[in-house]
Amino acid sequence: MSDNFKLDLAQRPRRLRRTASLRAMVEETVLRPADFIAPLFVVEGRAAPDPIKSMPGVFRLNIRDLVKECRALQKVGVPAVALFPKLDPKLKDDVGSQALNEDALVLRAVRAVKKAVPELTILTDVALDPYTSHGHDGVLNEALDDVENDRTVGLLMKMAVLQARAGVDLVAPSDMMDGRVGAIRQALDAAGYTGTGIMAYAAKFNSAYYGPFRDAVGSAQAAGTRLLSKATYQLNPANRREALIETQLDDVEGADILMVKPAGLYLDIIRDVREATRKPVAAYQISGEYAQIQAAAQLGWLDLARCRHESLLAIKRAGADMILTYFAKEMATLLRAGR
Ligand code: PBG
Repeated sequence: MSDNFKLDLAQRPRRLRRTASLRAMVEETVLRPADFIAPLFVVEGRAAPDPIKSMPGVFRLNIRDLVKECRALQKVGVPAVALFPKLDPKLKDDVGSQALNEDALVLRAVRAVKKAVPELTILTDVALDPYTSHGHDGVLNEALDDVENDRTVGLLMKMAVLQARAGVDLVAPSDMMDGRVGAIRQALDAAGYTGTGIMAYAAKFNSAYYGPFRDAVGSAQAAGTRLLSKATYQLNPANRREALIETQLDDVEGADILMVKPAGLYLDIIRDVREATRKPVAAYQISGEYAQIQAAAQLGWLDLARCRHESLLAIKRAGADMILTYFAKEMATLLRAGR
């Protein structure tokens, strides 16, 4: 082959990649601060921010510090937070009683944040796992080999109403019980909370990547219930059609926003859901996805800033209208600075 070989090409896609300005002009997906929802962990008391070992840069915050963090998030343009309580293990029992306590930690946190930063949208999980001694998302049957669907839904309905009363804008059922979205919608409406929305964890997979989150809220399953797997309610990671069945059910039951979780390993599902519904689609870049990037960056094996950006861009490109991510504040801060 000679050195001056020439192809006779009409199409040369590289033309549009030649300069930074051309590349900017043809960029199809752009991240903005309003794309992000920040998950935050709240604890009782006055203790200093408590670092979560498997999630570098993420802390459990007392209510005062939580309010400060929410103000900071609002300042950089993050429109929403998802609040997760870490309970004192002594308060947990096998039916998750604290979930129905009007004065529960997360409800006090919601009231404090609403008061201090009223424009910020607040989400809370509707599921029993932070409250049960066994760490499951619902109540167990007598044989301890199943989560009782309908009894659990009965509790979740009450829990959602308490959250709405505290000022939550979007309740987020994350339990994967059958029929819970419709039941929660009815309960909210009956209690007069017709304006409280539902972001359904619609396609929530039984993922190993939730590990760091379970460290954060202390919901790793107790020894006595090891036999009972979350696989009995969360989706099998192998199943794509089943994810569409779940999202469609939540859609018709009245969910306002449909969520796919995890995000980065489930981009095909995000795309499927995007094409199956006209409603907004959310994706949750979960604790393990965050931990993976942080860990590799700490080892010097991956570039944190670039991987953070690329991981979120991919989720949005797949079809997510909004992303729950532990990178929310840093990303919004960088995007505002034009970087
Ligand atoms: C609770 C819940 C979980 C997450 C959010 N809500 C964990 C689980 O189902 O065990 C995981 C979030 C994350 O890993 O970042 N139902």
